[in-house]
Amino acid sequence: MAALLLGAVLLVTQPQLVPSRPAASGMEPNQQELLRKAGTLGDDMQDSGATNGSAQQLPQTIIIGVRKGGTRALLEMLSLHPDVAAAENEVHFFDWEEHYSHGLGWYLSQMPFSFPYQLTVEKTPAYFTSPKVPERVHSMNPSIRLLLILRDPSERVLSDYTQVFYNHMQKRKPYPSIEEFLLRDGRLNVDYKALNRSLYHVHMQNWLRFFPLRHIHIVDGDRLIRNPFPEIQKVERFLKLSPQINASNFYFNKTKGFYCLRDSGRDRCLHESKGRAHPQVDPKLLNKLHEYFHEPNKKFFELVGRTFDWH
Ligand code: A3P
Repeated sequence: MAALLLGAVLLVTQPQLVPSRPAASGMEPNQQELLRKAGTLGDDMQDSGATNGSAQQLPQTIIIGVRKGGTRALLEMLSLHPDVAAAENEVHFFDWEEHYSHGLGWYLSQMPFSFPYQLTVEKTPAYFTSPKVPERVHSMNPSIRLLLILRDPSERVLSDYTQVFYNHMQKRKPYPSIEEFLLRDGRLNVDYKALNRSLYHVHMQNWLRFFPLRHIHIVDGDRLIRNPFPEIQKVERFLKLSPQINASNFYFNKTKGFYCLRDSGRDRCLHESKGRAHPQVDPKLLNKLHEYFHEPNKKFFELVGRTFDWH
């Protein structure tokens, strides 16, 4: 089994990232002011527009998580919009001390070039579960629009495990079975980190201390898998983008078992690390997992005034 999985991993050749669109415009005046105050924007950077009129700008929207929620799919789907410029890599500015210590000027330098009419977006899924991040994002821009994509918390745990399992396989390192993480003395091991990341109400509370709920749009990651277009339309509306993404931008790929994207006659699916088979888990253990999330899910639904079709 492990050898088969390793074989599959080694077959990976496709680049994961979609090239971002020709990039964006200047910063808003308040962002420029912030950068000057922070001493991170030198005189030379203030006019750093490229010759075609594009420039780097701080993101007006961030996909904050959740890890394994479908963040890459969301970013790529949103990038179908001509008015969106997406950072290719996960920037980890607000959650990694070393990056944060470089200041906003460094953050800006990680952004794609874009035109003034474009929105810059970056995604770093670890932001959602990092306690320091909400305050830091707020101090950069209190009116920023945040995107959060969530999926069934138990599924997310399995997906989280699967990702780490594959990372180990790629390095030819052994990795324990999921049961070894989920069970301790016959009981659910609540110290398993992946479980904590699925306690959405805990992390959401941190964000709601700094941002009103109306600034955080929650994308239903399970629906995005089954039928992406309606979820993406809601994101367009939330970001006040003109409706330019169409149903025809998506087609179901039977081989992949997921929707893929069609853009200007070019078809592409997400990298094969997205949409992997999860391990088979004993139904009794799976039940324990579902029971464990029952109360936290209820708390989350109350917090956001909305329910989701989770176990
Ligand atoms: P699995 O690989 O466990 O199925 P993230 O990008 O945040 O790491 O999320 C990865 C998940 O995105 C995948 O988890 C997959 O279920 C989900 N996903 C949503 N839409 C997808 C799509 N169109 N193609 C591939 N994976 C998609």
